[in-house]
Amino acid sequence: MPSKIDAKEYHTLIAKSPLILEKLEIIDRVAQTDSSVLILGESGVGKELFAEQIHLRSPRSGAPFIRVNCAALPEGLLESELFGHVKGAFTNAIQNRRGRFELADTGTIFLDEIGDLSLALQSKLLRVIQQKTFEKVGSNTPVTVDVRILAATNKDIEALVEKGEFRSDLYYRINVFPIHIPPLRQRPEDIPELAGFFMKKYQTETKKQFTGFSNDAMEFMLSYSWPGNIRELQNSVERACVIGKGPRIQKDDLFFRTAPVIPEPAEGSRNLKNAINAFKIQFIQKVLEENKWNQTETAKALDIQRTYLSRLIKEFSIKGEEH
Ligand SMILES: Nc1ncnc2c1ncn2[C@@H]1O[C@H](COP(=O)(O)OP(=O)(O)OP(=O)(O)O)[C@@H](O)[C@H]1O
Ligand SMILES: [Mg+2]
Repeated sequence: MPSKIDAKEYHTLIAKSPLILEKLEIIDRVAQTDSSVLILGESGVGKELFAEQIHLRSPRSGAPFIRVNCAALPEGLLESELFGHVKGAFTNAIQNRRGRFELADTGTIFLDEIGDLSLALQSKLLRVIQQKTFEKVGSNTPVTVDVRILAATNKDIEALVEKGEFRSDLYYRINVFPIHIPPLRQRPEDIPELAGFFMKKYQTETKKQFTGFSNDAMEFMLSYSWPGNIRELQNSVERACVIGKGPRIQKDDLFFRTAPVIPEPAEGSRNLKNAINAFKIQFIQKVLEENKWNQTETAKALDIQRTYLSRLIKEFSIKGEEH
């Protein structure tokens, strides 16, 4: 019974490094239990994908997997999102509404960014964990659910506990099984696999065909520290698929932003006007490429009129290579 909320498809998890294969083994075992799991790790390491795997490998896999981002909504809205409300509970509550805990009944709820949950909601959550019951906003009638709780955060949650911003009793309840997902720089074996996976994905989307990565590009990917982890790698490969001319993806396609090139006027004196024009040409060309030479989209991205863009293209004789 897929609801609108859990209709989002599951992701493919690429795993090659011993570090990650080891985590997956732990996840296999944890999945068989109903214990809460706290997934920790830097931004972009794949915490949500691991939560999906715990659900998919669990006896609850046929039931809903409901995702909630605790940082996305202000406290009042989040409370009704999580627990539902009854008609008349507040001005806009024109009818009864089921919350995500009810939608997750017999399945799994994934509380992302749990470190951002307010203290009041932390208390309510603690009660759901301990007694499996809660009340909808505006109601006194307890609702009972059978939900497995997974949570994730990229914050130092122990520091939040020490500062009194996160309840220690809730922390102990959700921290029964902490799983730390290592950053990408600690598992280089995953980089070629992930890069290849994203290349296939984005070349289909960009209707291009690449044969792989140049040696330089691969070396750079393996030595770079990836502070934004897999999300950053994914964005780099996507960008490379958009701007790359092939047949292989080059280092500059992946990292053109980290190595800005200051354009020099092609000819004439190095006065400011020529320099600005040189920049204009290069920038317009880049945005045109990013938008596959669609002038309407490019004009939108540049926040200028389409007619003005065509005039600039003519004036500077900007030409693109056909992809
Ligand atoms: N092992 C993996 N295989 C394939 N794709 C991955 C993998 N890990 C992460 N990704 C992709 O990287 C992106 C970031 O992953 P995810 O959203 O799970 O990160 P996160 O740890 O939840 O980050 P944040 O703390 O910023 O929310 C997603 O687009 C996800 O599909
Ligand atoms: Mg996340």
